[in-house]
Amino acid sequence: MKITVVGSMSTDFVVTTNIKPDQGETVFGEKFATAFGGKGANQAVAASRLGVEVAMVGAVGSDDFGTAILNNLVENGVDVSCVERVTHAESGSAHIVLYDHDNSIIVIPAANNEVMPSNIERFASQLLNSDLVILQNEIPQATNEAIIDFCWEHGIKTLLNPAPARPLAKDYLEKITYLTPNEHESAIIFPDQSRSQVLAKYPNKLVITLGAMGAIYHDGKKEEIVPAFEVQPVDTTGAGDTFNAAMATALLYGLKMSEALRFANLAAAISVQGFGAQGGMPTLEKMKEQPQYEKKWHFK
Ligand code: ATP
Ligand code: RIB
Repeated sequence: MKITVVGSMSTDFVVTTNIKPDQGETVFGEKFATAFGGKGANQAVAASRLGVEVAMVGAVGSDDFGTAILNNLVENGVDVSCVERVTHAESGSAHIVLYDHDNSIIVIPAANNEVMPSNIERFASQLLNSDLVILQNEIPQATNEAIIDFCWEHGIKTLLNPAPARPLAKDYLEKITYLTPNEHESAIIFPDQSRSQVLAKYPNKLVITLGAMGAIYHDGKKEEIVPAFEVQPVDTTGAGDTFNAAMATALLYGLKMSEALRFANLAAAISVQGFGAQGGMPTLEKMKEQPQYEKKWHFK
């Protein structure tokens, strides 16, 4: 099974603090660390650790951060032959504050904004060679739209994780195979409809993640909440990325939606127990060691 992730790659600059400064105020924090991030890279690494053949498409700068980002992807088994190194923009970064068991993030897209619709011909054969193409909202909207159109025309499945939030035209909504907003993103995409209305409208396609509550979808007959696993989170950064990659992996290997979401909840629950977006992402072996791992998830 082959997944191509077209998306962002970044360095995360992570500050852990017990006090949040007001505007104009200076406070002392607890610690600082850098970590590998970017929703695209995170989802590529998560899927690769779960045993899928993964290729990354996107752009990094010609700086040392870009080199480290590429090395990390390669170390995690991700094919980077379709990642461009641009000279006119630095590598992307995310500036994360961890406070009170949650995060707030400022993203500087930089090179991630250089992935243009006109670039598609450079990686078209990679898309055509994929069982599923995964997208997020950290590259330009026009590029995502061009890729969704391309995949639609060629019968390639797509999963859009619409994070960070931005509106999505109905035409693209129809062409996407799976859409996985959290509740905030869902409210931006479907502003005038209730959660139940939109879930019923897009059965087995729309999955809304609910943080520590799990995820909800409609199976064509009824709405179903698939509960999260109860754990003590260390750092929830990347929970959504792990969830998306694990859901995609499980669906590609033939699990039905409810089982794929249970598998994704377990992967994400493991990931929130490690520091950094990619720090806690499990391998398939680690998943199999969990008491909650189900024998029927035998897709390898
Ligand atoms: P993020 O942007 O923080 O990566 P998100 O907002 O895209 O995440 P969430 O809905 O917060 O997505 O979480 C995604 C999935 O991660 C949930 O559906 C759940 O499976 C898992 N998860 C998140 N938080 C927790 C938690 N505290 N305990 C267990 N599982 C969690
Ligand atoms: O989803 C988590 C990611 O979002 C972080 O790694 C950070 O790069 C932000 O873009």
